[in-house]
Amino acid sequence: MTHPRLAAGAAPGKVILFGEHAVVYGQPAVAAALGSGLGATVEPDPEGPVLLIPRWGKGGLVARPGDGGEDAVTRGFAMALEHLDLVGAPVRVTLDGELPLGVGLGSSAAFAVALLRALADHRGEALAQADLLSAAARVEGVFHGTPSGLDHTVVTLGGCLRYVRGTTPAFRTVQLAHSLPLVIAWAPREGTTREAVAGVRARHDALPEHFNRLFQAMGAVAEAGIAALEAGDLATLGLLLNLNHGYLNACGVSSIVNEQMVALARRHGALGAKLTGAGHGGAILALCPDQPARVARALTEAGFPALVTHIAPVPRVPTDAGKTE
Ligand code: PMV
Repeated sequence: MTHPRLAAGAAPGKVILFGEHAVVYGQPAVAAALGSGLGATVEPDPEGPVLLIPRWGKGGLVARPGDGGEDAVTRGFAMALEHLDLVGAPVRVTLDGELPLGVGLGSSAAFAVALLRALADHRGEALAQADLLSAAARVEGVFHGTPSGLDHTVVTLGGCLRYVRGTTPAFRTVQLAHSLPLVIAWAPREGTTREAVAGVRARHDALPEHFNRLFQAMGAVAEAGIAALEAGDLATLGLLLNLNHGYLNACGVSSIVNEQMVALARRHGALGAKLTGAGHGGAILALCPDQPARVARALTEAGFPALVTHIAPVPRVPTDAGKTE
């Protein structure tokens, strides 16, 4: 029987405003959903299950669980099918969207959430929030090992969240005073999130006292960042973003391209700029209330893809999972 309409699911990308890496050590982090993300559609296909991602890889990716493919996309797809009781189902899933892959803008979390939502829709269901959060955590774990959970939580719930990891993570909406004007730019990443997190772990283990102090300082900057976001104090917010970037550099996760992008953004008028995500290349964000197009142009002229966006204030999220504060 064919489905009466194309089943579909979508999920946004994300930026981490404060606290990446320190969040792994129990410090608070702040992340916000982006306006762009990924969308998945499900159609009948007797040759299925198959997943097509036309914009990823060189000339697109095709994943067929069960044909021995061990890559993360295939394993993640298999896990999502299993969660929805669709192992071996005759379906073709197409995942598309403008989110660049693997630069710290939440592509793996958006992959997980869009896929789960679309497969649930194909079954004529909507997953309960708690179920979606835990399934997305498992699918995203295929890409990231044991992530803090920050990415899939903000991608699932949307908005801007303060997040603290834990057996039961604690999160709450950060009520932005007004819309946050950002420029985001990116470069290819060297290595994976998992490797970046392992590198920080090795440096922490070599100098635990110093790194614990550094993580505490990053947590304090995140808390001050929340106050500035809620007060709409962009000047202070810019300073705090710069401070957070310096701490990330001290953690050893910034690279020459991150430093170039951050310096360019600041020189062309950003109030503050930092790398966002795991680092070693990947994305930066810049706070640009004035002339964001000028900052974006400077970055693209230097060879870095860039987009002008904003994080809009949203109403408080209802939660039925996690401990809200
Ligand atoms: O995968 P990314 O680039 O969004 O980085 C995730 C953020 C980290 O704090 C580095 C890791 C984590 O699990 O929170």
